[in-house]
Amino acid sequence: MNQHKRVALISGAGRGIGAATAREFGRRGYHVIVNYRSNIDAARDVVAAIEEDGGSAQAVQADVCDGEQVAALVEGVREEHGHIDVLVCNANTVGPSFQPLAELSWASFAEKVNGELSGVFFLSQRILAVMREQRAGRIIFISSTAADFIGMAVAHSTAKAALNTFSRHVAGIGAQYGVTVNTLAFGAVRTESSGQGFSEGLQGHLTDRSVLNRLVEPEDAARAVATLAGEDFGAVTGQLIRLDGGYDILDQQFHPLTSHFD
Ligand SMILES: NC(=O)c1ccc[n+]([C@@H]2O[C@H](COP(=O)([O-])OP(=O)(O)OC[C@H]3O[C@@H](n4cnc5c(N)ncnc54)[C@H](OP(=O)(O)O)[C@@H]3O)[C@@H](O)[C@H]2O)c1
Repeated sequence: MNQHKRVALISGAGRGIGAATAREFGRRGYHVIVNYRSNIDAARDVVAAIEEDGGSAQAVQADVCDGEQVAALVEGVREEHGHIDVLVCNANTVGPSFQPLAELSWASFAEKVNGELSGVFFLSQRILAVMREQRAGRIIFISSTAADFIGMAVAHSTAKAALNTFSRHVAGIGAQYGVTVNTLAFGAVRTESSGQGFSEGLQGHLTDRSVLNRLVEPEDAARAVATLAGEDFGAVTGQLIRLDGGYDILDQQFHPLTSHFD
């Protein structure tokens, strides 16, 4: 039983943003539950990296879209450690399809929306019950700025927009017993899976528009998640925070009219 360390459960932590987030929580002194679906080697590598950094972690397999597997995951962690302090709903359950609406089948659309929402629904229900007993906890949902895009990735965009609304319902429930719930919406983050879609032209475009003058890396995302889970954000709940290096703010400028305000 891990009574002294705070315990963070991160879904889909074997690769990408989840893996970087797991390592960041490990560095910050949490015991990390590295959830994965099928890639056990990747999850074990994350656990090994956390241990090399002096932290503690364990890999736990569960398909977060399956209610029974989620029940076993959450109950197993609670029994072993006695508490779960942070849940990060990160798993990339169904990758985004970039087909326009006219070419999209109902089956692909439904698969994306269903995968995104089932991947947070069961975890939220189970964790809320645990955190209600504890009268404390932090839940962070990982969303995307694609929720606000029109004209591309219609299924992904719709799924993430639904997630954003769902997260506010969870925040409303959590607020009744001291649990904070926030959502981080990332713009493009260079991970192994997303990176395949980043052409040189797109990378240049994203870099030009970023206040960082480079692409957003998983480690940038990870630090934001871990900071949001920390004490300094204890009074913040029900919020959607965008992390996209500045892409969004540039998009909202009145380009054709700017000269009128000079
Ligand atoms: N990358 C971006 O540009 C970007 C931008 C905005 C938002 N996001 C969001 O950030 C999150 C992470 O994205 P990513 O690019 O880091 O993903 P990724 O590199 O594709 O990694 C996906 C992870 O999720 C796990 N996973 C998939 N389905 C699962 C399931 N049903 N149950 C448990 N684990 C499951 C995978 O486990 P296995 O390895 O075992 O299959 C893997 O560890 C997603 O919610 C994504 O929508 C990403």
